[in-house]
Amino acid sequence: MAKGIVIYYSRSGNTKEMAELIARAMNEGDLPTDCKSVEKVKANDLLGYDAIVVGSPTYYGSMAAPIKQLFDDTVSFHGRLSGKVGGAFSSAANIGGGNETTIMGIIEAMLIAGMIVEGDPQGDHYGPVSIGKPDERVKQQCANRGGRIAKLTRKLTS
Ligand SMILES: Cc1cc2nc3c(=O)[nH]c(=O)nc-3n(C[C@H](O)[C@H](O)[C@H](O)COP(=O)(O)O)c2cc1C
Repeated sequence: MAKGIVIYYSRSGNTKEMAELIARAMNEGDLPTDCKSVEKVKANDLLGYDAIVVGSPTYYGSMAAPIKQLFDDTVSFHGRLSGKVGGAFSSAANIGGGNETTIMGIIEAMLIAGMIVEGDPQGDHYGPVSIGKPDERVKQQCANRGGRIAKLTRKLTS
């Protein structure tokens, strides 16, 4: 059966809260999904999942170093993530603080790995973004995104 994972880095809990909401929606969308801090994930673990969703706080407009390190560590099996479903999300302090560039950085790494990333024509287009702690709007975005990722993954793996 297809499986998903949501991986996050979080110091003050905002990105972690988003991760848990997305993972819950993926599980509710019939895609069994783990939710893990990046410190507990080794690059090799990614090979066991069909959907990989990655969240990072916005640090100077890009992903936090531990998330970048995880992608860098996949170079030893470059190409083997090809065809898996990806997704990204981020929390920042400010509107215009680099949220979307952070998400695009994560998506770029996923595309280079050959992964499939679906946009959202109605919601947060590139992936859920939060300013500080997730509010009701962000919670809804995370739920919607998790559902969309689960649906696409089930479709591609059935
Ligand atoms: C090193 C560092 C760099 C940051 N850079 C930015 C930034 O460029 N833009 C921004 O809006 N917030 C920035 N922030 C704020 C965090 O993105 C924000 O507080 C986020 O919600 C933290 O997520 P967390 O609770 O999951 O740790 C930065 C925070 C740190 C610690």
